Amino acid sequence: MRRHGWRAGRPYDCRVSEQPAPSAPRQSTGGTKAFYVTTPIYYVNDAPHIGHAYTTTAADVLARWHRQRGEDVWFLTGTDEHGQKVLRTAAANDAAPQDWADRLVATAWLPVLETIDASNDDFIRTTETRHTERVQQFLTGLKDAGEIYEGEYEGPYCVGCEEFKLPGDLEDGTGDFAGQQVCRIHGRPVDLVSETNWFFRLSEYADRLLAHYEANPTAVAPPSAYNEVVSFVRHGLQDLSISRSTFDWGIPVPWDPAQVVYVWFDALLNYYTAVGGGDEPGTPGATQFARVWPADVHLVGKDILRFHAVIWPAMLMAAGLPLPRQVFAHGWLLVGGEKMSKSKLTGIAPSQIIDHFGSDAFRYYFLRAIGFGSDGSFSWEDMSARYTAELANGLGNLASRAAAMVGRYFDGALPAPGAYTDAEHALQQTVARVAREADDAVEVLDFQRAIVAVKAFVDEVNHYVTDQEPWVLAKHPERRERLATVLYTICESLRAIAVLYHPVMPKATTALWDQLGAATSLGRISGQPVGEVGRWGQLPTGVPVTKGAVLFPRLEEPAESGT
Ligand code: ME8
Ligand code: MG
Repeated sequence: MRRHGWRAGRPYDCRVSEQPAPSAPRQSTGGTKAFYVTTPIYYVNDAPHIGHAYTTTAADVLARWHRQRGEDVWFLTGTDEHGQKVLRTAAANDAAPQDWADRLVATAWLPVLETIDASNDDFIRTTETRHTERVQQFLTGLKDAGEIYEGEYEGPYCVGCEEFKLPGDLEDGTGDFAGQQVCRIHGRPVDLVSETNWFFRLSEYADRLLAHYEANPTAVAPPSAYNEVVSFVRHGLQDLSISRSTFDWGIPVPWDPAQVVYVWFDALLNYYTAVGGGDEPGTPGATQFARVWPADVHLVGKDILRFHAVIWPAMLMAAGLPLPRQVFAHGWLLVGGEKMSKSKLTGIAPSQIIDHFGSDAFRYYFLRAIGFGSDGSFSWEDMSARYTAELANGLGNLASRAAAMVGRYFDGALPAPGAYTDAEHALQQTVARVAREADDAVEVLDFQRAIVAVKAFVDEVNHYVTDQEPWVLAKHPERRERLATVLYTICESLRAIAVLYHPVMPKATTALWDQLGAATSLGRISGQPVGEVGRWGQLPTGVPVTKGAVLFPRLEEPAESGT
């Protein structure tokens, strides 16, 4: 039997008058605390679109980057399967909710992880016993601690958001819904709920949340999200209804099985249940929990910021558990100026883009084109233009020219460099600086800055090739040593580029790694530490440099125009 770690150890105590406990610091290489990164668990009301793939891709890049920093990493994603939204969709499709969820997970949510090349360590489904049992234990613990009471709820509820709304959250409807109050996010009328429910004393956590955020100014990011949360909490919090009695698709409230747990209370706990939260000391779950808890970053879209930055930390405070280091709310992918959404059927399936451009380009494009934290629109033209300029002509061409020249002039064996000149010293300095800058940028989830820094280095190496004209050097036998220096410099630069881009474009960089002969001489690319990238001269001379498949093939015209 699992025993809940209820208020185990020192209870969370940070009344405003006292110094609040800072979030647990993260350890770098060799520490015992793993880097724990999560995505939201997505509703199985429909198949994923590129908005979901965007969050998961960002989490994946972060996970891969931290692995290449030599850290122990735990990357969690999954699906949110209970609640009215899923229940209604299942019913509309003549399916039992569990069958519907099973089908969507098997045919859509798991496959998309392959499609985008995600390296998640686990996938949690909220209908799994490992989740439902621990949720019930957590809830019982809260109840025993006096954090839960019975009360009446009356008010608006948006099934699209699965959220109890305040009057200020609604607006006047238009079109079909003229004359009605509608949800600002979904643009649809809300339900009026009047039920006797179980309530969580959320209102009592406002001061503690404010103290926590004051002491930890990066606990919510970017700053716009931080300000939104702080100002929301300053206006005061209401207690939260955490159960529903009018339908049964959910986890039964342990002491009142006529009610099911409110889907958000259930869902947020996935971050805890999936890593063994509440398990008996000495069990594998408890060991796992000690290794990863608390999360280093919960990646979410800004639509679900408040759940993660208000309700979730209050739940953890109530349970005496350490709080996540950071909740990062990124922006929305927009369609016609509005959030791309399953409910509005405006979603583009990731495969629509990936079938044409490949998964690496997909991962690259969204993190490179849109500042993480800002909204952005997907445009086929913009993506094609960047693909061609930055990937095919920029990186791809550099790689194929390097391999072709080593092949032609040195029989495919990487030549030893001779004396370096200012041109090489400049590149060597840039590579060290770019590696540091990319690391600093990823540390604060500024993927765009990291990618732009590496891209600028690719451009610099391409300029170097143009300036040095190795094809001219090759015509002069007395310049053979200079030719060797130039080609070594290009290949060694590509070595650094491959490692720095690996978390973003795992497939192309692995191919490049093989072409450089690095796999046999330096080991797997995923094992190359980012901290060592700037150390010049790692590629051993004499390794076979081969011209492999083109890294970023020229684009065909899309089969149907106007996509
Ligand atoms: O909210 N642009 O699930 P969900 C960018 N089950 N990101 C987007 C997006 C868009 N247009 N649309 C969706 C839920 N996303 C809950 C979460 S977590 C304990 C429970 C991404 O299926 C983004 O990460 O509605 C957003 O927050 C999430 O998908 C919402 O997915
Ligand atoms: Mg949603």
